[in-house]
Parts: sequence; C-alpha cells; structure tokens
Amino acid sequence: MNPSVKIIINDQPLELPAIVGSEGEVGIDISSLRDQSGSITLDPGYGNTGACTSAITFIDGEKGILRYRGYDIAELAQKSTFIETAYLVIYGELPTPNQLSEFSDLLTENQMLHEGMRFHFEGFPPTAHPMAILSAMINATSAYHPNLINKREQRFSYHAARLISQVRTIAAFSYRKAHGLPAIYPKTTLKYTANFLHMMFSHPGEDCELKPELVKALDLIFLLHADHEQNCSTATVRMVASSRANLFASASAGVCALWGPLHGGANQAVLEMLEEIHQDGDDGTKFLNEVKNKSGHRRLMGFGHRVYKNFDPRAIIIKNQCDKVLEQLHKTDPLLDIAKKLEEIAIHDDYFISRKLYPNVDFYSGIIMRAIGIPLDMFTVMFAIGRMPGWIANYKEVMEDSNSRIARPRQIYTGPNIRSYTPLDARP
Ligand code: ACO
Repeated sequence: MNPSVKIIINDQPLELPAIVGSEGEVGIDISSLRDQSGSITLDPGYGNTGACTSAITFIDGEKGILRYRGYDIAELAQKSTFIETAYLVIYGELPTPNQLSEFSDLLTENQMLHEGMRFHFEGFPPTAHPMAILSAMINATSAYHPNLINKREQRFSYHAARLISQVRTIAAFSYRKAHGLPAIYPKTTLKYTANFLHMMFSHPGEDCELKPELVKALDLIFLLHADHEQNCSTATVRMVASSRANLFASASAGVCALWGPLHGGANQAVLEMLEEIHQDGDDGTKFLNEVKNKSGHRRLMGFGHRVYKNFDPRAIIIKNQCDKVLEQLHKTDPLLDIAKKLEEIAIHDDYFISRKLYPNVDFYSGIIMRAIGIPLDMFTVMFAIGRMPGWIANYKEVMEDSNSRIARPRQIYTGPNIRSYTPLDARP
C-alpha cells in the first residue's frame, strides 16, 4: 500500500500521497494541494520543502552523514580523487579504468579556452572580483558553442567535460589578469589539480614547483565540495535548468548564488574574520561575546548550517588535512590557532549548543588554501571549481526527468488591494 497523509484544510479532509526516499525519509506530495483545497504552502527559505527527488547525494544532518551516490564522504576522501569523484557524481557509478581514462582525455582535450575568450578578460577592471569574472566567462563560453542551444544536441558528456575543464582555466586566467601576470596555458601532461596550480603559479619559461602534498590537499578540497544536494547554488542551477537554459548559463547562475557570504563566500569571510580578530589582538573571546550578544550583528563565519545540526563531516576531514599540510610545510599559522580556540569555546558554549551550530566546511578550508598560496578573493572560486560536478549532475537530472516542469513558486500577496490611478498633479 502506498503511504499517504491525511490533513484537514478549511474543515475539509484531504488525503495526500507520501513519497518515501531510499533512506526512509518521507515527503508529503502536495502537488495537488491547490487544486483540491485552493490553498498553497508557505515556507520562506524552503526549510521544509523538497523541490525534487534526486539520486545524487544523501545528507543526514542530524547524524552528520554525507554520501555521494551511496559512497561515504570519508571513504571517498581517503581513497578517491576529485576527477574520479566527479565522474561518480555525474554518471552515478565509479568509473572503470577505461571510463576514467576516457573522461580524463576528454578533460584534457577541452582544457583550452577559445582564443577569442582571452579578449573578454581584458574588459574587466583590475578591481573585479574573480567570482564576477568566473560567472561572466562561464556564460560567455556558451556564446562560442551555439549548438548548446539546439535541443537535438546530444553531446552532454562533451559539454560536461568542457565545463569542468575550462572552469579551472578561466579561474586561473582571472587570477593572472587581476595580478597583471601573463596567462599560463594548461599542460597536457599534468593532471587536473596540478594543472590548475601550474596555471596559477608558473611563469613563462619557469614552471612552479608542484609539491605533491599541496596538490593532494587542494584535490581533497575540490572532492569535498563536489556536491551537497539542494543548497542555494544547486537549487539555483536546477531552477535555471528547468526553463531549459543551457548548461553553461545554468552553471553561471550557480556561481552567482554561491558568491554570497552566507553560502560559498563564507570561506573568504572566515579568513577575513580570523584576520580581524588577529589584528585586534583578541584570542577570539571578545569576538565571540559580540556574536552572542548580537550587538554588532556579527556571525561566527564558518559555523552553522541549514542542514547539519551536528558536525559537518567535511569540516572534520578538512581540519585534519589542515594540520597535516601545515606540518608538512613546517609552517605555523596564528589564524589556525585562533580558529581552533574559537571552535573550542563555541562547541562548549550554550549559545552555539542550543542552536546546534557547529563548524562547517568553510571553517578550516581557507587556512589550507592560504598555506597553498591561493589569494583570499579566489577562495570562493575554489569552491565553484569543486562544486561543478554537482551542478552538472543536477542539471542532467533535470534534463533527463520526463516529468520535469519549469520551476515556478507561488506567493502569498500582501500588497494593497485594487485602487484607482491618481493623476500626478492630484497626488499630495
Ligand atoms: N554565528 C552566530 N549565530 C548564528 C550563526 C553563526 N554562524 N548561524 C546561525 N546563528 C543563529 C542565528 O542568529 C539564529 O539565532 P536566533 O535563534 O537567536 O535568532 C539561529 O542561529 C538560527 O539561524 P538561522 O539564520 O535561522 O539559520 P539558517 O539555517 O537560516 O542559516 C547559515 C544557516 C546561513 C549557514 C547560518 O548558520 C550562517 O549564517 N552561518 C555563517 C555563514 C556560513 O558559515 N555559511 C556557510 C554555510 S555552509 C555552505 O554554504 C558551504
């Protein structure tokens, strides 16, 4: 028997079907609610609203579980690579050796930008934030591939590879442009993450040293960001995709949504917060008091999550990696000490405990990126590179769903009732 839920609206009993997910979570299917009752639901911020069914990522925020396609994030972090995980997230299964090598070849084939795109970079002022450049350039990529707009174009895997590969080239070029440095082209001999660091930090005629431990640490950061179900940016990608916009336009919208400090922009905001605390000579105590008494409308950036009401499993992995990277580099970082102190106080403080606020993925990732030498305003770009497989997989799910409709929420109107137009000279 299919489960259902009985509710009473306006004294009228209604029976609504329920959908049960593969991990047992139950969703009440309200798609016939308005037709049956004349009412809609209201859920600002969508904390109680499932916008889709999806087979990509499973999160249990109470237990701190995150799985891509059924594989636990900790196991993938230990055994996989970003590119293998990207394949898994997009296509649903771990690749065979053959599939992985074909996928890698496709990424290499697509890593160069159309030469015409180089000129777009010239149009940005030196003050442009790399996220603005990234979003604009991803969208501009579709202008070089008009066949993307053709619905009969079936080469999804080709476009997916192009996007994953080129987002990294665009990101590195935008950094070079912002710092007045010549663009460094990707090498066919380097793997994904090493190639990115090469494009960022090499100079013409002088390749940078690619320290394996740093390449591995950045690869891990990308992997940990590969997908995270229906967050603000992924929901945005699905929203845009639902209108049948092309893959590049949808991903470009995702970049814009990610940019905000309450979402992907938090990794930059965390470092700015730690630097400010450090410059104030505070060990974190004064800052936390300000957060708790809400006097300065401050938040402890990198803490809290809409879904995790327990430790974000990615934060635990990143914190360990952070210690390892600094140890391998024989570096200390006073900001790491402040971060640890903040965490130590916060996880024992009633303000944070009662609101179930724990460190999220952004709390420690910035310290690793800083150690690698990635500048602060590129942190959120790193998140975008990592999240690309998830956006692509979600785009694919929308396109392959024969029941998919354009996403079009309703609203409860609270403005004025009908009134007559007052001519300009008769207005007070
Ligand atoms: N510091 C201090 N207080 C916080 C924090 C924080 N980081 N986060 C939430 N709170 C408090 C709120 O003030 C509120 O308190 P109240 O009940 O006294 O009013 C309560 O906790 C609930 O907060 P909401 O804003 O309703 O929680 P929501 O689920 O909407 O927000 C969010 C989640 C945006 C992540 C929030 O925790 C936040 O702003 N965190 C800091 C920014 C951040 O780290 N973002 C990255 C998230 S992970 C990601 O996107 C990759």
